[in-house]
Amino acid sequence: MTDATPVRDYIRTIPDFPHAGIMFRDVTTLFADPQGLRRCIDELVAPYRDADIDMIAGIEARGFVIGGAMADRLGAGFLPIRKAGKLPGRTISEDYALEYGQATVEVHDDAIAPGARVLLVDDLLATGGTAAAGLKLLSRLGAQVMGCAFVVDLPELGGRRILEDLGHPVHILCE
Ligand code: PRP
Ligand code: ADE
Repeated sequence: MTDATPVRDYIRTIPDFPHAGIMFRDVTTLFADPQGLRRCIDELVAPYRDADIDMIAGIEARGFVIGGAMADRLGAGFLPIRKAGKLPGRTISEDYALEYGQATVEVHDDAIAPGARVLLVDDLLATGGTAAAGLKLLSRLGAQVMGCAFVVDLPELGGRRILEDLGHPVHILCE
């Protein structure tokens, strides 16, 4: 890998995880490489440098890695969108369907000031179910959603279209 290696080349594919037929796009190899991680965060924050983002909302678990780094880079705070039962304070929740299952995400009900400029981030966009649930939570908190950013899109699953139809600009590094 060199300075010119594109982000997609750091991501490996593991067939049949977590179930037969799923091609799992594994970003741990991207996160493990200092040049890859630096390039990934550079490219993710690029459109938002002058966007006055107050908070990055990252989705558990892989969205925490990029979300924390993006928040630091943009001088923003970090808001964790967690799987059910993990947050200690009073929460609001949304259920959603996954490419391979069912889940619930939650946020603290006092996580942001109403009107805060929030960017939703995660490693990967598949059906868009997780991100759409996260966006519902942000809207219930009174956030001003400035967009959604992902490292990888799986275009055949249609998530990008769903988020764009909800009116949110989407920034993705690779397919
Ligand atoms: C993966 C990925 C996204 C979600 C995308 O997370 O990190 O959050 O799936 O799928 P969708 O667009 O079809 O909703 P996963 O649920 O596997 O959880 P993890 O990050 O905790 O492993
Ligand atoms: N989340 C949903 N589908 C996925 C896939 N194919 N690879 C990695 N994470 C995923």
